Parts: sequence; C-alpha cells; structure tokens
Amino acid sequence: MTPSVFLAALCLGIASAAPKLDQTLDVQWNQWKSTYKKVYAANEEGLTRAVWEKNMKMIERHNQEHSQGKHGFTMAMNAFGDKTNEEFRQLMNGFQSQKHKKGKLFHFHEPVFGHIPTSVNWTQRGYVTPVKDQGSCHSCWAFSATGALEGQMFRKTGKLVSLSEQNLVDCSRPESNNGCSGGLMDKAFQYVKNNGGLDSEESYPYTAKESRNCLYKPEFSAANNTGFVNIPPQEKALMNAVASVGPISVAVDASLKSFRFYKSGIYFDPACRLAVNHGVLVVGYGFEGTDPDKNKYWLVKNSWGKSWGADGYIKIAKDRNNHCGIARAASYPTV
Ligand SMILES: *[C@@H]1O[C@H](CO)[C@@H](O)[C@H](O)[C@H]1NC(C)=O
Ligand SMILES: *[C@@H]1O[C@H](CO)[C@@H](O)[C@H](O)[C@H]1NC(C)=O
Repeated sequence: MTPSVFLAALCLGIASAAPKLDQTLDVQWNQWKSTYKKVYAANEEGLTRAVWEKNMKMIERHNQEHSQGKHGFTMAMNAFGDKTNEEFRQLMNGFQSQKHKKGKLFHFHEPVFGHIPTSVNWTQRGYVTPVKDQGSCHSCWAFSATGALEGQMFRKTGKLVSLSEQNLVDCSRPESNNGCSGGLMDKAFQYVKNNGGLDSEESYPYTAKESRNCLYKPEFSAANNTGFVNIPPQEKALMNAVASVGPISVAVDASLKSFRFYKSGIYFDPACRLAVNHGVLVVGYGFEGTDPDKNKYWLVKNSWGKSWGADGYIKIAKDRNNHCGIARAASYPTV
C-alpha cells in the first residue's frame, strides 16, 4: 500500500466516526445515557449516538403511524437503544432452536374440564415472580424454565419461591445446555430431574456470567421436577395448557426491532417469523375490547428487566397463525 492510499483509508475512517448528528436530540440523548448509566469513550460516542438516533426516529415514526391506526402496539426507547440489529441479536437470542427435538410430544392430555376460559392471568393468581433481567448473557432459556417451574411449585405447595437461573447456567452442561451461549428449557427441566433439585434464587444468585464450577447446594434446593411435557405446536393446545396447567415455557422470534422496543398494546409484526430464538414465559391470555373473538393476545413475561415493554411483559397476537412461532416449542415441567 502506498502512503497516499493509506492516508485516504485512514481519513475515511475518521470521517465515518464523526457522523452528522441531530442536535435537537441532545437533551434526550443525555437523559437516556444517564437513565441507563451508559458511558462511552469519546471516540465511540458519535457512532453510538448515530445508532441511537436511528432507533429513536424509527420509534417515533412507528408511534405516529400507531396514532393513525396503522399498528396495534406502541414502541419506546429503552436500554437497547444503542445496539444495531446485529449486536442485539448477538446479545440476546439464547434459545438454541436447532437443538429443540421435534416429535417428542408425549403425555400431553387435554384438560379435564370442557370449558376453557376466555382469559387467564396467572400473575394475578400468585403463580409468577417479579420480572427478572438476564443481562448480556444468552440465558433466556434458564429464565423461561425457572418461570414455569416456579409456577408449578406454587401450584403444588402454595408457596412462590424464586428459583436460580445461575444454577441452570452453571450446572446443566451435561444436559447439553450452553450457559451464557444459549440453551433449551427442556434441557433445564431434565437437569432438575437428574440433579434431584434446583436451588433458590436467594441461595444461588444471578451473575449474568457463567462459571464452569457448579455451586449447587442440595440444602438450598427449593424445587423438583419429575420431567417435562412438550405441547403440540398449535395455539389451541397451548391455550388448553395455559388454562389447565399454569405458566408455560415457550420460544418466540424476538429478533425484530419492533419486539426490541415494544411498549404497549398487542404485538403483531408481519415480519415476525416462525423460526424461534428467544425463550419466554406465557403467563396467560385474553382479549382487548368487548369481543372475546377479537384482539386476542398471549400474555408473556420476558427476562429483559421491568423497564422493557409493559413492565417487563408483552402481549403477543393470539390465533394469528402462530405469530412469532409462539406455540412451536412450548413445554412445562411435571412436579
Ligand atoms: C395480570 O395480573 C397482574 C397482577 O394482578 C396485573 O398487574 C396485570 O395488569 C394483569 N394483566 C392483564 C393483561 O390483565
Ligand atoms: C427433590 O427430590 C429429591 C429426590 O427425591 C429429594 O431428595 C429432595 O429432598 C427433593 N427436594 C425438594 C426441594 O423437594
């Protein structure tokens, strides 16, 4: 490379590091940084701000369209505002769908009662712990699994005890989970069965980092399961299970920006795919308005903290062709 070519390349690099910024957003940018305690090196702030501005404008455009009746949900800036799509995907999607075994649908019984209610909310009935935050570890699968097991333990014992995701992250490698690189809820249930217990959150707190040392202590075990049940991949079957069993582990496609910045209303994005990548917990279902056959949703607990979505929850469109693949990998532990 001749010196002049080298210089040109270097100058381009500098030019792209100083993108044009919209100064009318200065106040909001500074507020956002302090809200989410973000600190950037001087040489990376410009590029990061440009990504944030792009997200901010996309959100504003979406909400304007929402006010014109074009969308059924709103979006809002949140902690993920400085991430490009690619960075976000790398950060968040921990459900290893390629490993989710198909055809292992056993022991699922239709509920014994004939009447399925038009709405269910297990959070209201004490089955669900407060929203948790997985941080930057691909451990969604562990949060989905503890959520389902917390619910089944409550059903059995009448006591709601928060369970340890870290226990699953650190210890379920023999069941072929991958710690902070992803895993499956069913493998987590398998671990609890093989291990003969799962520690409480309090005794084995979450660090958002994986340790190769398993620190499980049987004396702090707060849950057990005898195995798990995979639900047939249809929304009707999922509805029956939610109504008759309790909170259910599911996986969805959470890779779209519309999902990342969801705030309120019923989430529906035609671009959402059936290829699932994120483990979450269905804690109920229902409908908005007065007609139980319209505006139906799944009530879903996420693990991205309380400041994400509707206090950590999202309503996903129900009975609209298995939106975001919600019924594709549903299961629950048997206790
Ligand atoms: C579900 O119940 C919780 C707890 O009572 C409540 O805060 C929430 O608004 C309910 N969600 C829906 C969609 O009814
Ligand atoms: C879980 O099951 C094992 C084996 O049956 C038992 O030793 C243990 O006490 C149980 N733990 C809890 C919390 O129920």
